[in-house]
Amino acid sequence: MKKQLSALEAKYEAQKLAFAPFYFQATLALKELGILDVIAKVRKGVRMDEIVEKTGVSLYGIKILIEAGFVSNLLQVDDEDRYSLTTVGQFIRSDRMTEVNMNFTKDVCYDGLANLKESIVNGKPEGLKVFGNWPTVYEGLSQLPEQVKKSWFEFDHFYSDDAFPYAIDLVFRENVTHLFDIGGNTGKWAKACCEYDEEVKIKILDLPGQLNVAQQNISKESYADRVTYHEIDLLDESQAIPAGSDAVWMSQFLDCFGSDEILSILKRVHEAVDEKAYVYILEPFWNNQKFPASRFCLVGTSMYFTCIANGNSKMYHSEEMEKMSVDTGFEVVDTFELIGDSYHTLLKLRKKS
Ligand SMILES: C[S@@+](CC[C@H](N)C(=O)[O-])C[C@H]1O[C@@H](n2cnc3c(N)ncnc32)[C@H](O)[C@@H]1O
Repeated sequence: MKKQLSALEAKYEAQKLAFAPFYFQATLALKELGILDVIAKVRKGVRMDEIVEKTGVSLYGIKILIEAGFVSNLLQVDDEDRYSLTTVGQFIRSDRMTEVNMNFTKDVCYDGLANLKESIVNGKPEGLKVFGNWPTVYEGLSQLPEQVKKSWFEFDHFYSDDAFPYAIDLVFRENVTHLFDIGGNTGKWAKACCEYDEEVKIKILDLPGQLNVAQQNISKESYADRVTYHEIDLLDESQAIPAGSDAVWMSQFLDCFGSDEILSILKRVHEAVDEKAYVYILEPFWNNQKFPASRFCLVGTSMYFTCIANGNSKMYHSEEMEKMSVDTGFEVVDTFELIGDSYHTLLKLRKKS
């Protein structure tokens, strides 16, 4: 049960939402104009006139932003009008996860998010038109403006990178000879597998734009001949997943699809594998988080899927994914909650005999 807020507290919480875009933009400006850096460098704090001098921003501009930072709890002020960073301000200034999330919000989502309601009503990513006329972001990913692409990939990789070292030990506990990486993207997992195991052969399945990038990334590696590429659009139900794998890997992949589409993909995986193969689903399930901040970010990320990505997918609850797996003929043989800095859970499935 959530703690009941007093009316005064509740009204304040409501205003935080009403003004959220203002404070988001002010926070960005405080960071990008170097104001947080100037403040962080002097332990006893800095006065406004000193910040003006060191940043070259007008006194008017500094007042606007410092006051915003003060009321939103990024900055504190002492009796001599010296401003210093609070712990929140320190996270905004130098925490990598916060930076990745803010850049993703700013570059990929901010403009398009104004179309959230329309996206919900139409079941389409109406915010994507900010960048182009693709049905989903995945068709346009390799053509997005450089800064948008950078923030998209940094967001995607920040989370999966931390999960891979733990997950790879778990996958290679079994004897894996032919691993299919569905939605293999830039080839990071394929590279990690080839470096981990000298024999394993990997097939990356993805849309053509991403496959080209993966191929470029892997072509110069000594193990390049152990990686093959299979162009596929899994939204097209007539496209089958080829046979020949003893492990199928889907990392941060099924969250790119609505539940009907996931059922269709899992059915095709089921048709492609035999009873001895293992199928792995790696996802940051929103219910399976150690910290409230992670849950908050993941539920927020669902709105990126609605508005920018494809209009029908989301970050899932682990039970939804398990049910879809069972409904398509798999059994969940193991569940690993990954350790370290990971937010992910690894589901290990096998075809029900
Ligand atoms: C969020 S990325 C995940 C990348 C990577 N597996 C990871 O863990 O970082 C999703 C991947 O799924 C691919 N994808 C999305 N829609 C697809 C489709 N309809 N058919 C095939 N691949 C698709 C995207 O191109 C992208 O590479």
